[in-house]
Amino acid sequence: MFRKCVFLLLALYCADGVLSSSLIPPCKIEDEACIEKSVMAASSKLIQGIPELGIETSDPMFIEKIEGKISILKYTFFNTTVVGFKNCKISDIKVSKDLTNLHYVMNCPQLKLKGLYDINGRLIILPVEGKGDYELITGKYKVVVDSELKVTPGTDGKSRLAIKNFKLKCTPLSAIHFDFRNLFNGQKDLSDAVHKFANESWEDVANLVQDPVFYPEIGKIIKNVNKYLKSVPLEEYKLN
Ligand SMILES: *[C@@H]1O[C@H](CO)[C@@H](O)[C@H](O)[C@H]1NC(C)=O
Ligand SMILES: *[C@@H]1O[C@H](CO)[C@@H](O)[C@H](O)[C@H]1NC(C)=O
Repeated sequence: MFRKCVFLLLALYCADGVLSSSLIPPCKIEDEACIEKSVMAASSKLIQGIPELGIETSDPMFIEKIEGKISILKYTFFNTTVVGFKNCKISDIKVSKDLTNLHYVMNCPQLKLKGLYDINGRLIILPVEGKGDYELITGKYKVVVDSELKVTPGTDGKSRLAIKNFKLKCTPLSAIHFDFRNLFNGQKDLSDAVHKFANESWEDVANLVQDPVFYPEIGKIIKNVNKYLKSVPLEEYKLN
């Protein structure tokens, strides 16, 4: 009897959208502490992924193509796997009262990227070229995200919240490990010189190349957040 009840309860709960109602604990817009807790709880589940809603995991994250074109340097990363977003801590969350702006900070202890690269140009002072396997292991990274929000009516007439666009400010806080195999077609002395330079000047190198890498990554996360937000009416997590 007891079992049957539990089962029925579960079935009812699921049918009623347990996912949508439990993922973002509801808050009043002026209750910053509540919002902070809610966003943290929801973000860790969203990073894990929600297959029922077609939301894939963000850790590991797969990115087919990352393209950087700055005046002196062109680089493309193919088939990159990024590991580490689940360990990023979100802080400093600010939502404007009119629900038009969202600000938050992600503090990531380490992100590991692995895939194929193709690079050509100048790395600040050194010429660099080659293609092959690459691995990047960052140290601590601070990513400040500023985004615009939009409230639109859903097909059921209830409002939905969405993140419309975003701007990033990325800051590397500790040394980065660079490993680009087969630079200069395998000429070791040239490759060593580039790795030594990147190793010693990790901060300058990161500041030069990081944005085209972070934008598609955070873009993927935000796309998943929006998929989720589309499934839940705003009134279910915004209390009046
Ligand atoms: C990336 O992976 C896909 C699927 O495995 C493969 O078809 C493609 O050739 C890869 N890209 C590169 C540049 O190797
Ligand atoms: C990389 O840099 C660190 C310090 O920034 C140093 O301890 C290490 O020996 C360097 N490694 C190489 C391969 O140059």
